[in-house]
Amino acid sequence: GRARFVPVVLPTAKAVEARYPLTLNTGRVRDHWHTMTRTAKSARLSAHLAEPFAEIHPADALRTGVSHADLVRVESATGHIVVRALITLRQVRGAVFVPMHWTDQVAANARVGTLIPAVTDPHSGQPASKRTPVRIQRVALADYGFAVLRTRPTCIDADYWVVAKCPGGWRVELGGLRNADDVAAYARALFRSGDDALLLSYRDGVVGLRRVAAFDDMGLVGALFVGPTPVAVSRVWAVEQLSADMDQPGARLRVLAGRAGGGQPDRGAIVCACFGVGQNEIVNAIVNGECRSVAEVGACLKAGTNCGSCRAEIKGILDATRLQAAE
Ligand code: FES
Repeated sequence: GRARFVPVVLPTAKAVEARYPLTLNTGRVRDHWHTMTRTAKSARLSAHLAEPFAEIHPADALRTGVSHADLVRVESATGHIVVRALITLRQVRGAVFVPMHWTDQVAANARVGTLIPAVTDPHSGQPASKRTPVRIQRVALADYGFAVLRTRPTCIDADYWVVAKCPGGWRVELGGLRNADDVAAYARALFRSGDDALLLSYRDGVVGLRRVAAFDDMGLVGALFVGPTPVAVSRVWAVEQLSADMDQPGARLRVLAGRAGGGQPDRGAIVCACFGVGQNEIVNAIVNGECRSVAEVGACLKAGTNCGSCRAEIKGILDATRLQAAE
């Protein structure tokens, strides 16, 4: 078809630049479409990035005291959201990227539209969603949690939460748990487990770890891990426990321990959603000398050989791993 270019005069944002020194860009991630009304139903698509995030340049993170995996408040003149910090050289200095997909259906407070002023282009009606002045601030909460559960929770009592579909159920990231002094009761309400479920719990009063897992005849009903810092349990491994045989010796205690027994490797965060290949598997193949290119990673692990949308990330892992090895 034919089109017509229309010159655009950008509104100046100088008045708020001192208070809001960063420029927010919004956009998409490879796995989701618009507000996730369909893609959030896919465990496979949700495996790659299960949380909303803010991509921040390392220099901006250092200046604002934000570390990787912190929760970060992104604030503009019109509102604020709280998302996970992702510190990366992919981002340019002075700018922040936040994806547009997460809504109140799946997260406590991550609608990026909250930050965008209600100013639209007079010709197209398009909002100015690519250059909003914002500031960022680390969010410190009393506790953090991660849970896997068979049934989607109906009510999550926490300042920060994000729920995502996973094989066998749901996974939930938590922060600022409310009314969680009795963590077993909190877990029961979150899992929606019946009174007949077997509850195992563990508490380390020195470092402040609390863990609860519930089991029934079908296996794991839910597992909740809570600590004073973001929980370091392998997400991929924890999700796999929802489909694992809990009658195997030691299986239930391993859930409570939060790690695979017998030296089983952690696959790491899923990079290739098509074939369920994790970051650690790719790094190991590179370090072992089995793979020196994206094509060789594909030949070795199949990663990147279907839709191809993970190839850029595989290339990034290759470059970062080689750089680390050279240092
Ligand atoms: S995500 Fe489709 S090939 Fe990796």
